[in-house]
Amino acid sequence: MPYAIEVKKGQEYWFCTCGKSGTGLCNGSHEGSDRSPSQFVAEKDDTVYICGCGHSFDSPFCDGTHKTLQGS
Ligand code: FES
Repeated sequence: MPYAIEVKKGQEYWFCTCGKSGTGLCNGSHEGSDRSPSQFVAEKDDTVYICGCGHSFDSPFCDGTHKTLQGS
C-alpha cells in the first residue's frame, strides 16, 4: 500500500524507493541494496502517494503496481 505524505511548498523531501522504510520517507534502510532515495522539492502544498512495495514503475510514486503483486 502507498504512503500518503503531506508536503509543503518549497520543502525538500527524500522519498524511499526501496520499500523498506515503512513510512515512505528514506530512513537509511536501503543501505546495502542497489536503491537510493529520490529527492523531491514540493512545488505546492499537496498530498503525494509514495510507493510502499518497492515495485512501482513510477518510483518513488505509487502507480498501483502493488495491486498486481501476490499477497497484496
Ligand atoms: S529507506 Fe528506502 S530508499 Fe532509503
